[in-house]
Amino acid sequence: MNILITVQEVREKVQEWKRAGLRVGLVPTMGYLHEGHASLIKEACSQNDRVIVSDFVNPIQFGPGEDLDAYPRDIEHDRKTAQDAGADCIFHPDVDEMYGSDFSSFVDMTGITENLCGKRRPGHFRGVCTVVSKLFNIVTPDMAYFGEKDAQQLAVIRQMVQDLNFAVQIIGCPIIREPDGLAKSSRNAYLNMEERQAATVLHAALSGAEDAMRAGERQISVLTGMIRNTIESRPLARVDYIEVVDSKSMQPVSEMNADVLIAIAVYVGKIRLIDNFTWKIQAGRI
Ligand code: PAF
Repeated sequence: MNILITVQEVREKVQEWKRAGLRVGLVPTMGYLHEGHASLIKEACSQNDRVIVSDFVNPIQFGPGEDLDAYPRDIEHDRKTAQDAGADCIFHPDVDEMYGSDFSSFVDMTGITENLCGKRRPGHFRGVCTVVSKLFNIVTPDMAYFGEKDAQQLAVIRQMVQDLNFAVQIIGCPIIREPDGLAKSSRNAYLNMEERQAATVLHAALSGAEDAMRAGERQISVLTGMIRNTIESRPLARVDYIEVVDSKSMQPVSEMNADVLIAIAVYVGKIRLIDNFTWKIQAGRI
């Protein structure tokens, strides 16, 4: 499978596909592909004639003191994973290709980026929106695929596409989990054995809240209290946030009378992990 390095190479490849009337899907990633990414690629392949996976650790979405330098990278593993999942090529630019020395334009967003991860990681979504806009302009995909694990990111991208009139359809794909419930993430690679075991607390805490909701509990303080107690029962785990927000606007809700996202971020040792579930008022839970 081809690994394309330059914007020019991608443009030429996509133009060739489009001239042939083919439908193009894009799966944006930061590499170190796992089964979660593979599920996005497979979904993209089922809905498009050609699929391109971008594999780029985007420096401008990392804050000072975050894990940019340590972020795991393995392009050969990514090539195999993307190929096995059915992708046609990988776009793997270097930082200079994406951000020349005179780079000075950014895509910023208000409102929806101000809570949850946006609040804890200032500038993060500015970096995400900027790189995803660039990828949309470079690849001009018909459809683009994002995981629901990063629920705020998915909501932000949908809002950006609507606001800036990108001609791309955004598809959200379900969270893929390990057998013990831990959501798949490239950052799981950082966990030592003890932390890996403790990391199951994220899913356990959310599942407990979900069971309580099924049993009729609707008081937000009770639900967040339950989640906090479960997380704090693990000495290695520390709550970063537990939020109940409107699933579209990402604004905190005081009552469960619309579709809500229950989202958590938890430090396990030094590693920050996120997880969530959506509760649909009308149709029961998805
Ligand atoms: O979700 C990710 O891996 C990244 O935030 C994305 C969307 C590829 C942008 O760098």
